[in-house]
Amino acid sequence: MSKVVSGLAVSVDGYITGREPGAGRGLGDGTMLFDWYFDGDTPSQVFGGFKLSEPSARVFDALASRVGAVVAGRNTYEDSGHFDGGSPHPAAPLVLLSHRRPPELGERQTLVTTGIEDAIAAAREVAGGKDVGLMGGGVVTEALKAGLVDELVLHQVPILLGGGRPFFRELPEHIRLRLVEAVPAPGVTHLHYAVER
Ligand SMILES: NC(=O)c1ccc[n+]([C@@H]2O[C@H](COP(=O)([O-])OP(=O)(O)OC[C@H]3O[C@@H](n4cnc5c(N)ncnc54)[C@H](OP(=O)(O)O)[C@@H]3O)[C@@H](O)[C@H]2O)c1
Repeated sequence: MSKVVSGLAVSVDGYITGREPGAGRGLGDGTMLFDWYFDGDTPSQVFGGFKLSEPSARVFDALASRVGAVVAGRNTYEDSGHFDGGSPHPAAPLVLLSHRRPPELGERQTLVTTGIEDAIAAAREVAGGKDVGLMGGGVVTEALKAGLVDELVLHQVPILLGGGRPFFRELPEHIRLRLVEAVPAPGVTHLHYAVER
């Protein structure tokens, strides 16, 4: 079975946005969370226009090339300008998890309103055997509660943002993680964990 993974850029105090994210303001005042996508000399082989440091490119492309479909939460979808009717990933279609139908959906976008299990199942159907990527702290927490997350990658940026949307919300019980790899790179440390079951 393909895996379910989430790799998000996160501050040391656990935020995946700065303050005041909103429609078209994906990271609020936390735009520096994505600086490492563009501050190097190594072009990504998956995301055109990204130029990373060599160690970041290795980690980023290894994960991005595994992903065949993305499940994003409604806040990510809204704050990212509906991904202009497409997907956040150049080679993977989008499954939007929301309680509400958006005004319109693009050709590479599917809406699921019946919960995280159905969203991940829908993503697996279109992922061509590849892994499913999760975008959004709310969606990651829902998937963790359902026992559906296999791996977490924290692209940890050395800043305390002091506020914003958190990567993780409250969980009903502890979940143990196993460190797979820790890669220090300029402007970011990549922490790759497997979820233990
Ligand atoms: N740092 C990074 O790498 C990174 C990457 C991606 C996104 N982001 C940012 O992170 C933020 C993510 O926001 P977030 O963590 O608050 O939310 P999110 O996970 O993107 O979206 C949460 C919303 O998804 C819907 N949803 C979640 N679970 C559901 C369920 N079981 N059934 C139906 N709908 C469900 C609900 O929306 P409704 O009830 O309204 O339908 C819920 O409020 C965004 O601002 C985005 O720009 C950062």
